[in-house]
Amino acid sequence: MLGIIGGSGLYQFDDIEIIDEKEIKTPYGEPSDRYILASYKGKKVAFLPRHGRGHKFPPHLINYRANIWGFRELGVERILSVSAVGGINPLLNAGDFVLSDQFLDFTKVRPVTFYEGIYNINTNFDNSEDLVSEYLRDNRVVHIDVTEPFCSGMRDLLGRIMDKKSIRYHKHGVYVATEGPRLETSAEIKAFARLGGDVVGMTLVPEIVLARELNLHFASLNVVTNLAAGISKDRLTSDEVIEMMEKKNNEIKEIVKEFIETFDESITCSCGDVLKGAAI
Ligand code: HPA
Repeated sequence: MLGIIGGSGLYQFDDIEIIDEKEIKTPYGEPSDRYILASYKGKKVAFLPRHGRGHKFPPHLINYRANIWGFRELGVERILSVSAVGGINPLLNAGDFVLSDQFLDFTKVRPVTFYEGIYNINTNFDNSEDLVSEYLRDNRVVHIDVTEPFCSGMRDLLGRIMDKKSIRYHKHGVYVATEGPRLETSAEIKAFARLGGDVVGMTLVPEIVLARELNLHFASLNVVTNLAAGISKDRLTSDEVIEMMEKKNNEIKEIVKEFIETFDESITCSCGDVLKGAAI
């Protein structure tokens, strides 16, 4: 099944049938909200609003581990994450889509792994043979490879969908993950640009890392809601981020619906091997 993490507007589709809402308790506490189980053209999907309905959780206090573990409990194998970003690269315009393919991590205080060795608190592994259960059962220390953290098959499909719909997007992008909730100084954005950052946001890390630790495929559809601090001539506001996300909502929904319809469990990529040989 496909899991979709996005803003609250995303699951209010006219033509998607909502089947159920599921509250899930995890060994890491409660996810941001109930998961919405839905069906579109015969495909099942699970939606989760990242910040909770009503935008309750700031980015640094989102329970990313609970959110991702909940998807595993639902049987989700792939996650499509939709999020707002600021544009650092001068080629980016507000309103563009970016298919990030790398990240730089500047977060500071977030739980970053499921595999905590002797401090593991998760005893909720089934008896299945998968490596996640085995590593948790044995309290292993795990170092996953993130050379290419995003699912190439999912990114290719997103690109083909946007090509077909003539939607302006950028095929690559280095996502700079900041701790927030404050925005950046112009000096920080200048430094991120020198380091190769293209967009800046507060939620990709540890979301993608945790998904990968559970062997889930992950792709991110980023919407440039504003030019980053110091690049924009104006003071930045949350209002402009929300306004741009609302403006792009129909396009996002079109992309997401086509993705649900056309994605295929057999997309080729190398994500499946990520846990092999990763534990000490
Ligand atoms: N900085 C950090 N996060 C963001 C921004 C930004 O400019 N825009 C949307 N999310």
